[in-house]
Amino acid sequence: MAVDLSVSTELRARLTVDQATLDGYTGAVPRHIAIIMDGNGRWAQARGMRRLRGHHEGAHAVRRAVESCRYLGVEALTLYAFSEQNWGRPEDEVSGLMSLFDLYIKRERARLIENQVAIRVIGDRGRLPERLQRAIAQLEAATDPGHQMVLQVAVSYGGREELVRAARLIAEDVRAGRMDPEDVDEAAMARRLYTAGVPDPELIIRTSGELRVSNFLLWQLAYSELYVMDELWPDFNEALLVRALESFGGRERRYGKTSAQIQQRA
Ligand code: FPP
Repeated sequence: MAVDLSVSTELRARLTVDQATLDGYTGAVPRHIAIIMDGNGRWAQARGMRRLRGHHEGAHAVRRAVESCRYLGVEALTLYAFSEQNWGRPEDEVSGLMSLFDLYIKRERARLIENQVAIRVIGDRGRLPERLQRAIAQLEAATDPGHQMVLQVAVSYGGREELVRAARLIAEDVRAGRMDPEDVDEAAMARRLYTAGVPDPELIIRTSGELRVSNFLLWQLAYSELYVMDELWPDFNEALLVRALESFGGRERRYGKTSAQIQQRA
């Protein structure tokens, strides 16, 4: 992925984010940030509203997150929008979320293209309504040319399910004689994940205070830094992103080595 890290004047003019707050962050910017967007339901219930209203507010926070990351020069942003397990929610909430994804596609298409953000949906999209599947495929094709950032939206996604799928793809290749069992290594697995070609997330943010990874990017998060904030997803904004980045920027990433080894290399 070729990424232009400088923020052009045109981009500054286009992005409707709180640029002054984002400019306040001068530390290392992760190449890939992943977010577990949690707390929409609680946000709505605390205001006496239906849960779906919280999801709608959450979609506005999605725009803030996408445009802030684009502004900062992040290469990839992955958002956990709907897990495999979320299919078990009440029927009206599931169908409301599907309609919201549809609406998001219609509403954000032009902005995504203008801001050079390519969208990719990761997960078992075959379970989604056919109309939504077609709209997603069209959006992916329309946003890909000339992109500067990738937005992966995890829908009908599960980390274990993704690993089982990759294992099955490898087994099929071995059975068909296209691959030897000895060739099964980390790279062979990574190539068969939905996220193939995208670097692993350096930072994973979770909102609403829960200390869990909830079946999200189980392979890819091996060396990710985790940051959990108490605020609920609809309240996510530029200042909260900067707070997460400041925590990330202040950490020493050792990848199993000692602190002395890391400092020697720097
Ligand atoms: C978790 O909050 C959130 C979800 C299951 C849905 C996330 C969806 C959005 C943010 C809407 C739009 C997304 C896109 C990409 C357009 P929760 O409902 O589990 O909250 P709770 O824990 O308070 O009940």
